[in-house]
Amino acid sequence: MRASTTFFKGLTLILPLLGPGSVFGQSTPTPVPCVVHPATAVEQKQIFNTFVEEFYVKRDIPRAFSHIAADYIQHNPFELDGITSSFNYLYPLFSNTSVTVQILHRVFEAPYGWLHYRVDGILEEPTAILDLFRFNGTCVQEHWDVIQERPVNATNPHALF
Ligand SMILES: *[C@@H]1O[C@H](CO)[C@@H](O)[C@H](O)[C@H]1NC(C)=O
Ligand SMILES: *[C@@H]1O[C@H](CO)[C@@H](O)[C@H](O)[C@H]1NC(C)=O
Ligand SMILES: *[C@@H]1O[C@H](CO)[C@@H](O)[C@H](O)[C@H]1NC(C)=O
Repeated sequence: MRASTTFFKGLTLILPLLGPGSVFGQSTPTPVPCVVHPATAVEQKQIFNTFVEEFYVKRDIPRAFSHIAADYIQHNPFELDGITSSFNYLYPLFSNTSVTVQILHRVFEAPYGWLHYRVDGILEEPTAILDLFRFNGTCVQEHWDVIQERPVNATNPHALF
C-alpha cells in the first residue's frame, strides 16, 4: 500500500509537466475501444499475447487499448472505470522511451491474463508491477494491479527481480 502510494505520488509530479492533452508536443490520440464478441480460451490467449506485445513491448498504447472494452472495470484506486481515465494516465507514461519495461513472467488461464514486469524511469528505484486482466470474449473487461518497490534495509537479501 505504501509502495503504491509512493508510486502514484511520483507520477503526480511527472504528469503535470506534460500539459493538458499533449505528449511530446503532439495531441493525445483517442482510443477506439474493443467490442465484445465470443472467443474461445485459445483465442483469448492469442489476444492477450497481442495486447502484451502492443502495450509493453511495442509501447503502442492506442493500439493496445483497442483490446479494452469501453466499460472496462478498473480496480486501481487512482483511476476511474472506462477506458478514458486509464488511457489519459497510461499513454504519456508508457509512450515515454525513457521509461523502460522488462517482462518477467506471464500466465494466461482463461479468462485471466497475468503479467509481472519491471519498470525503470518512473521512481528512483526500479518498480515491480503485477497486472491482472479479465477477458470478456475478445476484450479486456477488468483490471487489478499490485505495485512494489524494494524497501530500504530489506530483510531478505535477494534482488527484487
Ligand atoms: C519521460 O521520463 C523521464 C524519466 O522518468 C522524465 O525525466 C521525462 O520528463 C519524461 N518525459 C515526458 C515527456 O513525460
Ligand atoms: C461481457 O460484455 C457484455 C457486452 O458489453 C456485457 O453485457 C456482459 O455483462 C459482459 N460479461 C462479463 C462477464 O463481463
Ligand atoms: C537503514 O539502516 C540504517 C543502519 O542501521 C539506519 O541508519 C537507517 O535509518 C535505516 N533506514 C530505514 C529507512 O529504515
